[in-house]
Amino acid sequence: MYVCICNALKDRQLSAAADGAKSVGEVFRRCEARPQCGKCLPDVAKMIEDARAQTPAMRLAAQ
Ligand code: FES
Repeated sequence: MYVCICNALKDRQLSAAADGAKSVGEVFRRCEARPQCGKCLPDVAKMIEDARAQTPAMRLAAQ
């Protein structure tokens, strides 16, 4: 599913880039994109929070 329409970035791509990222800007840099309209930024911030909340066991289970 597309999360960032402006850059045609899907949830899986953004979620992978959010793992270990410290900011929304870092996620976009990892995707080689730049935020444009900003509508997706709260969703990307949530992905960073979710990635931080995952325990090592949860990370292994997700692979
Ligand atoms: S939807 Fe992501 S910057 Fe517009």
